[in-house]
Amino acid sequence: METVVSGTRPTGVLHLGNYYGAVRNYVRMQEDPNYNGYFFIADFHSLTTHQQPDELGKLVKQTIAAYLASGLDPEKVTIYIQSHLPQIPELYLLMNMLAYKGELEKVATFKEKIRQHKENVNAGLLTYPVLMATDIIIHRAHKVPVGKDQEQHLEMTRNFAKRFNSRYEVDYFPEPTAFNYGEELVKVPGLDGSTKMSKSGTVNSAIFLDDSDDDIRRKIMRAKTDTGPTAENQERPQEIINLFDLMQIVSTEETYTSFDKAYNNCTIRYGDMKKQLAEDMIGYIAPIRKKLNELLVDEDHLSKVVLEGREKAWDSASKTLADVKNIMGLNYF
Ligand code: TYM
Repeated sequence: METVVSGTRPTGVLHLGNYYGAVRNYVRMQEDPNYNGYFFIADFHSLTTHQQPDELGKLVKQTIAAYLASGLDPEKVTIYIQSHLPQIPELYLLMNMLAYKGELEKVATFKEKIRQHKENVNAGLLTYPVLMATDIIIHRAHKVPVGKDQEQHLEMTRNFAKRFNSRYEVDYFPEPTAFNYGEELVKVPGLDGSTKMSKSGTVNSAIFLDDSDDDIRRKIMRAKTDTGPTAENQERPQEIINLFDLMQIVSTEETYTSFDKAYNNCTIRYGDMKKQLAEDMIGYIAPIRKKLNELLVDEDHLSKVVLEGREKAWDSASKTLADVKNIMGLNYF
């Protein structure tokens, strides 16, 4: 049986990118008897950029509810909150001794974050990949379902795991890989022409799991397009590629193919394409939204899920931490 770990920062209601790029695979892996899954809320990670104590609790609850609404089942997998496990910051401290400043400074997400948050380039941002590696190796995971934006972090996780094994001459940590059922990792685009849907993008660029039908229609009808193709099989600009990519996710193959053909023979009407995309998006999101809204009002249930999850995750994390301390020689008296 292989161990699977993944997490999400509680920075708001999840969007289609989080769902399609990652959470959908958590659910698929949960149903696979070959996997034992740990799925958590990365609240420590969110502190690197979001420091609003009054909001954090609400965001964490929304993220747990989104996990459950997407189909995660606490009877089958372990759902917990990162900060509920003190073993994580302890192992993170030990892992920091294996991470080099130079390699951390080269990480693409770090460079992007320091551009966005010039006023707050904290050490937590620099060592973000060390904490993320800790999340993964604390359960000695083999597979990590994530979107394409996390690929480099997984590469670093493997480096830290290998470095630990070789420095202490052990074969303790597996080398975990980013996972999407044998396919390329996914990057869901935004509606504003950007290649990645994100929580921090422009107002109408992301479709959230709690968007109403009208929100979805409005955002899609306003999505960026160009003036249309003027020659057969013309190359597509990014914003049009994005609409087709979104259509591939939520529409039938038949629908996708008919608009694809219409683009190539220059008969496409973007208004029609957007209307179709909006209705298919509603069909995809509405059932999740309905469950999400029901779960959000049941705080007792949400807290029960993560407190039970904490117990299960605790055992696995304690065992790894004790082993690591032994291997590192932190075992006198
Ligand atoms: P986060 O919170 O930004 O995103 C959660 C998951 O959603 C995926 N994702 C996307 N996938 C496809 N297209 C998109 N537009 C898109 N946007 C987001 C992310 O790849 C991710 O899988 N560092 C992580 C959280 C984390 C973690 C971990 C993940 C902390 N520790 C250990 C795995 C294992 C992050 O910020 O994800």
